[in-house]
Amino acid sequence: MPNAASLDLLMQLRRLLGEAHVLTEGDLSAYEQDWRKRTRGKALAVVRPGSTQQVADVVKACAQVGVRIVPQGGNTGLVVGGIPDATGTQVLLSLQRMNAVRQLDADNLTITVEAGCVLQNLQQAAEQAGFLFPLSLGAEGSCTIGGNLATNAGGTQVLRYGNTRELCLGLEVVTAQGEVMHGLSGLRKDNTGYDLRNLMIGSEGTLGIITAATMKLYPMPAASLTAWVAVPSVTHAVRLLGLAHQHLGSGLTGFEMMGQFALSLVDKHYPQLRVPLWQDAPYCVLLENSDSESEAHARARFEHLLELALEDGCVSDAVVAESLGQARNLWHIRESITLAQAEEGLNIKHDISVPISAIPAFVEATNALLADAIAGVRLVNFGHLGDGNLHYNVQAPEDCDTREFLRDYEDRVNTLVYQSVKHFGGSISAEHGVGSMKIDSLPDYKDPVALALMKQIKHALDPQGLLNPGRVVR
Ligand code: FAD
Ligand code: MLT
Ligand code: ZN
Repeated sequence: MPNAASLDLLMQLRRLLGEAHVLTEGDLSAYEQDWRKRTRGKALAVVRPGSTQQVADVVKACAQVGVRIVPQGGNTGLVVGGIPDATGTQVLLSLQRMNAVRQLDADNLTITVEAGCVLQNLQQAAEQAGFLFPLSLGAEGSCTIGGNLATNAGGTQVLRYGNTRELCLGLEVVTAQGEVMHGLSGLRKDNTGYDLRNLMIGSEGTLGIITAATMKLYPMPAASLTAWVAVPSVTHAVRLLGLAHQHLGSGLTGFEMMGQFALSLVDKHYPQLRVPLWQDAPYCVLLENSDSESEAHARARFEHLLELALEDGCVSDAVVAESLGQARNLWHIRESITLAQAEEGLNIKHDISVPISAIPAFVEATNALLADAIAGVRLVNFGHLGDGNLHYNVQAPEDCDTREFLRDYEDRVNTLVYQSVKHFGGSISAEHGVGSMKIDSLPDYKDPVALALMKQIKHALDPQGLLNPGRVVR
């Protein structure tokens, strides 16, 4: 039961936002349960402000009575960072109603959108004006640009365009005190002190609430071609990456590696997708070549690269999509691995990065350690090889009770994988963030001075600890 102070707060929030936008009853699972259905929280209320001023008003009202706030966008995060805890005392602040495109400046190559704008809608708004907004990830139909910024999301175009951080020129943010920081200038150069924009990006809602952003646009490529190739090993995949960089230059916009077991799950759960080449090779790679000249130019360069790669032996077989439809299907296969893995049952997810040069040794060593530790272990290894970022996931052995498996093995598996990542000089979170899932592991894998500075920054910006407590740093 909410106490008297909470009931007063709820009344005040209803006055500020209107009854319809302060939810306390009915099925709130879309806000309270994480995407992977691993954790369920309980909010004091789900509030849905419709403007930056309303976000600021909500934060001030909560700050006055010390009620904590969890910002949320599309709730597609994979590290349990955007749902309330189980106490029923936290306000879940959803940005979903703030979804407008505020301005597109064609000469400045920028688009300014509200935080709750769904990524796919942002991509489409750019496309309608003849531009490319290159951030692309499997959850793009429901994740929001605010969530992308808060997590500094990666996705499949990072090797050419960078993470969300690299795509952002300005932010509007509501601070933990309920003040509005106006930073939507769209400037490409501005050295007037500390970079607060980049501090907010990747802070996972712990330092401020992003309400709007000015993002970069790019010219639409004249052509974009997709190839799917089979490779004999991870070492060969890395060699192919080197060749692709050399021969496609900045035309190389995607390079995703997928292990055989990962693809077998897509084949098993979505047979209609017709996964190519997976049965005869331990890994497949999806490459994308974007070209500013023409499709013929793109095809000639791609075919030249693939001829070289076949000669070299780093590719054993290849198909190049003949149409946009075929290319979309290949990407759809790649993006379906997460869903196929979920269909297969509960699993242990990782999002690691090591230097690209260390990826083959990391995979070989960690595969061996896991095979030793768990009889029949099944590895779902796939990801953004072009960025040195793998989703090195662990599926329970066949016919085993997955809940028991998680209970008995999850901590051990995480420690084993994280230690291996550390050994190879990597990071335990390449693109998904820390959330609450990795907060307790961070002290073992993050530089202690960096972690101490992070805590000081959190304390300086949010001394009451109001914003997304229990996430990133304690
Ligand atoms: P949420 O899940 O709602 O929130 C994520 C975090 O951001 C939380 O800590 C939350 O408190 C905070 N937050 C949200 N909005 C704001 C705001 N406006 N201001 C401040 N804090 C805020 N991630 C990748 O990086 N690369 C991928 O390729 C990728 N693929 C995915 C594929 C699938 C199928 C799924 C389900 C997820 C994938 N993700 C990927 C993870 C997820 O989509 C991203 O982390 C995404 O950026 C989260 O956006 P969201 O709007 O859903 O944020
Ligand atoms: C991906 O690359 O598909 C995502 O990051 C999602 C995942 O890790 O499952
Ligand atoms: Zn990913």
